[in-house]
Amino acid sequence: MEKVQKLIEEHVGALIVFTILTISVAMFVEILPLMFSKSTTQPIPGVKPYNALQMVGRDIYVREGCYNCHSQMIRPFRAETERYGHYSVAGESVYDHPFQWGSKRTGPDLARVGGRYSDEWHFVHLMNPRDVVPESIMPAFPWLAGAKIDPATTQANMRAQRKVGVPYTDADIAEAPKLVEGKTEMDAVIAYLQGLGLALKGIR
Ligand code: HEC
Repeated sequence: MEKVQKLIEEHVGALIVFTILTISVAMFVEILPLMFSKSTTQPIPGVKPYNALQMVGRDIYVREGCYNCHSQMIRPFRAETERYGHYSVAGESVYDHPFQWGSKRTGPDLARVGGRYSDEWHFVHLMNPRDVVPESIMPAFPWLAGAKIDPATTQANMRAQRKVGVPYTDADIAEAPKLVEGKTEMDAVIAYLQGLGLALKGIR
């Protein structure tokens, strides 16, 4: 053992080789199985791909940087599950590319915000958070209400999502323009928020 120790300490090449070996073993044991495990690659019952409007809303959520203040991952601790509901499981995020788990919580976790408030509440809140939560430090996003959605880019986005494994059918993509036509970015963000975390809602 001492010989090995001496070898590693005195030869930087050996140190590199052993370091790579250690990391590879960890990868094989910890990461590789996750890529093939059902519990991390299959959706749990009730989880469906976002509809066209929700998918647009998700893109706006990313564009506006909501994730800088909001996580979407409830940890398996009492204090978290009492406040937000069932802890997050991987099977809820299989259609999220990229996922929005995060860890920054200037605001509350949003993993199960779906159904917690009415559409009207979200509208007022996003127009000016202080109108419903006087002490809020969340910025207002009033421009979302005036921005129309472009149906053509919506279809292109769905095709891109399909390439990375979201099972959108040709019919889903064909009817996408109808779903987003005349809708504003505000409608899309609200549709997205209202669909978050419903599969395990009410279960603790
Ligand atoms: C600078 C940080 C910040 C950013 C950026 C931000 N928020 Fe918030 N958000 C907060 C804070 C703080 C609260 C808690 C006070 C309140 O309800 O307004 C909050 C609350 C919320 C709530 C209510 C959650 C609950 O369970 O009560 C929702 C929904 C929400 N934000 C959505 C969004 C969306 C959508 C975006 C992006 C368009 C966004 N937030 C961007 C800080 C932020």
